[in-house]
Amino acid sequence: MLPSDAPTAGNPILSTHNLSMRFGGLLALSEVSLAVKRGSITAIIGPNGAGKTTLFNCLTGLNNPTSGLITYRPQEGQTVNLTHGSLDKAARLGLARTFQNIRLFNELTVLENVLIGLHSRLKAGLWGALTGNKKTRAEEALALELANDLLQKQGFGDLTKVLAKNLPYGLRKRLEITRALAAQPTILLLDEPAAGLNGGEAQDLIKLIREVKSEGNLTIILIEHDMSLVMSVSDEVHALEYGRLIASGTPAAIQRDERVIKAYLGEE
Ligand SMILES: Nc1ncnc2c1ncn2[C@@H]1O[C@H](COP(=O)(O)OP(=O)(O)OP(=O)(O)O)[C@@H](O)[C@H]1O
Ligand SMILES: [Mg+2]
Repeated sequence: MLPSDAPTAGNPILSTHNLSMRFGGLLALSEVSLAVKRGSITAIIGPNGAGKTTLFNCLTGLNNPTSGLITYRPQEGQTVNLTHGSLDKAARLGLARTFQNIRLFNELTVLENVLIGLHSRLKAGLWGALTGNKKTRAEEALALELANDLLQKQGFGDLTKVLAKNLPYGLRKRLEITRALAAQPTILLLDEPAAGLNGGEAQDLIKLIREVKSEGNLTIILIEHDMSLVMSVSDEVHALEYGRLIASGTPAAIQRDERVIKAYLGEE
């Protein structure tokens, strides 16, 4: 049974209830209950191995949680049990993500990578693409236009025909985000988007996150070690340590939280 938080205005778009994930003897997530506000930028922080990526994997159907519940409300009045899903199901329901270790189709071009992101949106889908019917050709033309527009906007102007593997690291990270955006997600999940970026690229990323947030009705959940990024873009922060949720609050409150400070300093 779903918890009794009936869908009324202001209900979280996504929540976990006592979510646990066990890998053999290791409890990677332990009874994590948290809520993500609709339209917010929510950060998940915590030391290495705290369970951040595992949380994303549970939310996007890559891991099947051992126990607990994930509730998703794509729109007010609509409640979906997301606990045991798949990456495909999550994508169809409007959850798009990036990965800590970039996952692009290396042998495909920049444009083709974004077209793949767009495909989950096309009505005629893969079947139509294979049979090459009229409706599909119109959709493909539209997809091409949308993908090119998005790529221009994200600064890939002259690079659309370059193979993904030949892009420099910062642009590969940006391309992965662009591909996720192409699916026009309801929730965008970013796993360490700033990792490995230089100062200028990290600033561009902050700008990008703010822009996509202000343009649409998007909810963003990001895992990040770069505290200046977390503090400058997040509305709310959840901190994990050894699979447990140790604090939730505004960036300012989290920065002062003693358990969070201890977790990061590794004190007893
Ligand atoms: N598929 C798996 N099988 C076994 N153990 C796993 C698996 N996935 C994660 N773990 C373990 O679960 C714990 C949490 O891992 P997770 O990747 O979620 O941490 P994280 O907070 O994302 O860390 P980092 O900041 O290093 O990315 C770690 O001890 C990790 O080794
Ligand atoms: Mg991780």
